[in-house]
Amino acid sequence: MLAIRLIAEPDQLDAVALPLRPGAAADASAAPVPTAVALPAEVADEAAALASMIRLTGRAGEAHRQLRPGAAPARLLLVGIGDGDEPGWRSAGAALARAGKDETHITVALPVGVSAEAVRGLVEGLLLASYRYRLGADAEAPALTGVDLAVAEPEAYQQALEVARTTATMTRLARDLTNTPSSVKNPQWFADQVAAAATDLPGLRLRVREPEELAAEGFGGILAVGGGSASGPRLVELDWQPAEASTHVVLVGKGITFDTGGISIKPVPAMKLMRKDMAGAAAVVAATLGAAALQLPVRITTLAPLAENMVSGAAFRPGDIIRHYGGLTSETTNSDAEGRLVLADALAYAVAELKPDLLVDLATLTGANAIALGTRTGALYSDNDQLADDVLAAVAEAGEAAWRMPLPTDYVEHLGSELADLHSAPTQGGGSVLAALYLREFTGELREKWLHIDMSAPSWCERDDAELTRGATGWGVRGLLRWLATLR
Ligand code: BES
Ligand code: MN
Ligand code: ZN
Repeated sequence: MLAIRLIAEPDQLDAVALPLRPGAAADASAAPVPTAVALPAEVADEAAALASMIRLTGRAGEAHRQLRPGAAPARLLLVGIGDGDEPGWRSAGAALARAGKDETHITVALPVGVSAEAVRGLVEGLLLASYRYRLGADAEAPALTGVDLAVAEPEAYQQALEVARTTATMTRLARDLTNTPSSVKNPQWFADQVAAAATDLPGLRLRVREPEELAAEGFGGILAVGGGSASGPRLVELDWQPAEASTHVVLVGKGITFDTGGISIKPVPAMKLMRKDMAGAAAVVAATLGAAALQLPVRITTLAPLAENMVSGAAFRPGDIIRHYGGLTSETTNSDAEGRLVLADALAYAVAELKPDLLVDLATLTGANAIALGTRTGALYSDNDQLADDVLAAVAEAGEAAWRMPLPTDYVEHLGSELADLHSAPTQGGGSVLAALYLREFTGELREKWLHIDMSAPSWCERDDAELTRGATGWGVRGLLRWLATLR
């Protein structure tokens, strides 16, 4: 990961990044911003002239690399910052990471009086856009290894840098876990990664349940879904319990390490990316590790039900009846609706045994998420307006996107089964909504304290886009960490 430092007196001025804001008039070209570090006078003049010649607008995300043979600095990176707010700087950081990838080191001349939020945005943009996932040698690895942020008072931004670095580190961890091929990533492997990451952070407790323990305690959904795989299911329970916490949050994340669809097997195009079907588990685990690293004063218990949904002689069948943790039963007419079966166990366990104040789950639950909301937006469900507003606000501030969806009463009847308490995969109605309504049945007395996000769509992206890189996005880590930081 890029090494980022805050400094008052830059010692390397070979490649300098200079912020540009939009000009005053609507059609004016971009203008350089006065910076804390003193640069040779001709540099700002040259930047202004260049902006006009090549029609730079100063909008956030615009970047231009200018070579200056024989001069100092020898390279200038002109980066648009738009309004200069956190989102503007986040885009600027992402654009700078790409425009400066052939530099080894960049000094960013930050504006006089820049805000801590701007520094946070810049650092997150730099660290997230420079992410790459490669197995083996990476011939195209960026040369850029260090960025210095030149400001008048480095101490004033140290906290913002720390928070941004932790947020980015954990988002990158979630991306790594999600990008990992499922030949490597089975449930035990995922649990081992959590254990390895947790050992660096004091104050975290980890329990991993194996199939025998799951059977003894009645986790029938996790066992059914994981039954067809040679790599048995696990339940990860990770607990961050700081002494000063008064609120207890349970986070639950869907951890299907590969989803073939099971006996109701997926067609080839739909199956090809199903190694990402544990992105919810990756997000909640990474957010919890981030909360521990930042010492957030809130208790968090994170549950990751992990299973591989395979086709085999031991796989569960369409039409089977599953008995979940706590006793509710589901008729499973489609083995591809497996996520809700493992989540149901985890939610019921949280309600019965952990009794938290708030219960939040993230899951790559349905293809219908993308049909309703496109490729970048999670579908958020809750009966609690305050909780929904708080999480929506945190997600938006973090630079992610979610949209609140209804839990309409007229769909509830579709969850009925002639044989069991519930039907896990009704064929009538909106898919993402029905899945949410099904999960709600397992929230018991915490029904009003529960929030669910279907994040199938934004968990992955097909091309580099601002701070997102092709592949796993780590969606949810940023928003959850922002939200958790507001709790006491
Ligand atoms: N993991 C999938 C959902 C998914 C689809 C995630 C596309 C990301 C991209 C989930 O287990 C699934 O198969 N859902 C079914 C539910 C249906 C059988 C009720 C779906 O969405 O088709
Ligand atoms: Mn499925
Ligand atoms: Zn799935």
